[in-house]
Formats: sequence, C-alpha cells, structure tokens
Amino acid sequence: ELKKLVGYKSVDDHVESGMVVGLGTGSTAYFAVERLGQKIASGELTDIVAIPTSVRTKEQAESLKIPLCTLNEKSILDVAIDGADEVDPDLALVKGGGGALLREKMVEVMAKKFVVIVDESKLCKGLGPGFPLPVEITPFCHMHTLRTIADLPSVKGCEAVLRMGSSSTNKPDGDEIAVTDNGNYIVDLHFKEPIKDVNAAASELKNTVGVVDHGLFVGMSYQVIVAGSDGIKVAGT
Ligand code: A5P
Repeated sequence: ELKKLVGYKSVDDHVESGMVVGLGTGSTAYFAVERLGQKIASGELTDIVAIPTSVRTKEQAESLKIPLCTLNEKSILDVAIDGADEVDPDLALVKGGGGALLREKMVEVMAKKFVVIVDESKLCKGLGPGFPLPVEITPFCHMHTLRTIADLPSVKGCEAVLRMGSSSTNKPDGDEIAVTDNGNYIVDLHFKEPIKDVNAAASELKNTVGVVDHGLFVGMSYQVIVAGSDGIKVAGT
C-alpha cells in the first residue's frame, strides 16, 4: 500500500501531457507505471512517450498500452521515476537489487528530474550495510573481475558475492549465474560498515576494467518521495 501511494503520487505530481518519461524497475516503480497507464487510458495524459529500464517494465508498459521509445530516439527525458534499495541523507542511492541498474542509470541520468519513490524502510544513515551494492560486470573472466573489485581500497573489507539464480533478486539462490537484461553478471558487495567515501567507491568501481556499471547513484536524485507510518514526506526540491 505504501509503494502504491508513492508510485501514484510521483506520476500525479510530476508527469504532464507531452512529456518523455523514464520508467523504473521494481515493486515500487510498478505502481508508477500502473498510474501512468491509467491516466493515458482515461485521456487525462496525452502525447506521452516512455522509456522503460528493463524488459519487465517494458512488458508491463506494453500491457497498459503506454507508448514507448528508447534513448536512441529521445536522449533527454522530462522526468524519470524509480524505486531504490537505500537512500542516504544526501539522497545518494543504492540501486540494482532488481538487477536493472545499468539501464536504470543510462535512462535516469538523462532525465531533467529523477524522482525516487520509496517506503521509509529504505532510508539509511550511510549506504552499504543495509543492502548489498550490486556491480554489473562482463561475463569474461568474471571471477578475476570479482576479486579485483573486492580489492579496491574504497570497498576494502566487503564480501563480494556473484549473484546466482534470477538477476532480479540479490539472494544467492539457484545454481546458475544470474544474467542481466544486457547479458552481464552481477557481483553483490556486502558491507558490515557504511561505505566511508561513496564518491571514491563510485569512481573506483566505474574505472575497473570488466565493470560495466554499479548501483551507486550519486548526485542524481531530484526528489525522493517517502511513504511511512506518518504519511508521505518529500525530500529534495
Ligand atoms: C531494480 O534494479 C532496482 O534498482 C529497484 O529500483 C530497486 O531494487 C527498488 O526495488 P523495489 O521498489 O522493488 O524495492
């Protein structure tokens, strides 16, 4: 119910006719997509084009008859709406629990407004210990890349675990390596303590050969809409 509240509010507050809209992935973004579909079907919103961040979201949007395109056709988005796994006081995020981090980052970094929708359980003082940090890597020599990541000074001490089973869960279930929508693997970094320097971690991970991208979304959030027992709160602009 909390996820539905923030999902619906994000569309009601931020989407207007004529916009290009980024559609996130996950159980919270699901409700934003649902709301967008309702408003297009009722005629309240017209001339909308949306860019989905995963195959799952694309399928949901298609089922709701939301007109879609890709970044190839529209490079700038008016707004993107997505959930997150952790949100710190600076509105930096951990994302990718659902395995969609690369497409999410590619789409959301191009949005004039990136609106994040979460329930209060996602708020944290420091990123890291509350949720494993996903890193998308290329399958070639993946264990070598995993070890290289685990040795980076900024994430020293974390436990690096290759994601098994479905890419859309960060639990090491199943005995097959999880594969993302992009054909890559995911390494989940488990921390006991908060990441000391999030910017350093973001930059070291990104600069590691074999890493495609990581789930630290720093300096991207325009607004975070949080649903909790006291109602809805908005952080950011
Ligand atoms: C998908 O890869 C993720 O980044 C999700 O946005 C994130 O895991 C939040 O998902 P929920 O809304 O399902 O918690």
